[in-house]
Amino acid sequence: MTEARTAVLTGAAAERGIGQATARAYAEAGWAIAVLDLDGGAAERVAADIGAAFGVAAYGGPIDVADESSVEAAHAAIEQRVAGGALPPVGALANIAGITSPVPFLETTLDLWNKVMAVNATGTYLVTRAFLPGMIERGFGRIVNMSSVSAQRGGGVFGKVPYSAAKAAILGFTKALARELGSTGVTVNAVTPGAVDTNIRVGSTPEQEAAIARDIPLGRTATPEEVAAVFVFLSSDQAGYLQGATIDINGGSHLH
Ligand SMILES: NC(=O)c1ccc[n+]([C@@H]2O[C@H](COP(=O)([O-])OP(=O)(O)OC[C@H]3O[C@@H](n4cnc5c(N)ncnc54)[C@H](O)[C@@H]3O)[C@@H](O)[C@H]2O)c1
Repeated sequence: MTEARTAVLTGAAAERGIGQATARAYAEAGWAIAVLDLDGGAAERVAADIGAAFGVAAYGGPIDVADESSVEAAHAAIEQRVAGGALPPVGALANIAGITSPVPFLETTLDLWNKVMAVNATGTYLVTRAFLPGMIERGFGRIVNMSSVSAQRGGGVFGKVPYSAAKAAILGFTKALARELGSTGVTVNAVTPGAVDTNIRVGSTPEQEAAIARDIPLGRTATPEEVAAVFVFLSSDQAGYLQGATIDINGGSHLH
């Protein structure tokens, strides 16, 4: 990376989460980081720890990605720090915040459907809409959206219908936005992990875990760090020709 840039990450505070591992991977690659999460206190602590460990500028604060005014406030807090010189300009946005829907279809409620769509799909829309104008203005940006193998093959122990639909919406969003971005210097791509070993899977039974592993040619779930590496690569200068792509990282569990 030739110039200092900030990577903004949503859903990046959870212990053992993909977001936190991704914040660490960006910092290791020399990025400043802005860690945003529903749990703003945890985001602040995670940012401070990672910033100190890797010697990069770091900010952590609250966001509810499903709430327009919360997204605007988080965006303003970051731009204020950029303007004051505490953070370099935003170069990457990793839309990672998400929630699952482990409920069979006939047990779902409209409330659950709306919530899962709001955090996964509307959240990706709102946060992208907030940070994209600055990226276009600077002529550089990397947006990386968290989808899931559930969008491609449907369902899964945790994925079920609302989650699969919301993660599929993110793929359509990514492709359509990629076409609109043209030669602005901003790219937008999606990542579709299979099962990853995080707390999102807490509550699964040993039988469910064994069934998941049996279905993966590599015979194991991914580590958060393995997924984090894909985000950092998609945000690099070298990834400039990847536009609207879907990058699978699923141990071979879904092959096109
Ligand atoms: N773990 C897996 O097997 C797996 C597989 C494919 C995709 N994913 C996706 O990866 C992402 C991260 O998953 P994880 O396993 O690390 O989960 P996690 O539950 O450990 O982390 C999710 C984070 O998102 C935050 N969050 C939830 N709602 C939010 C909101 N409204 N606004 C802001 N932050 C919010 C949570 O506080 C948490 O820190 C999710 O989008 C998930 O759907 C996970």
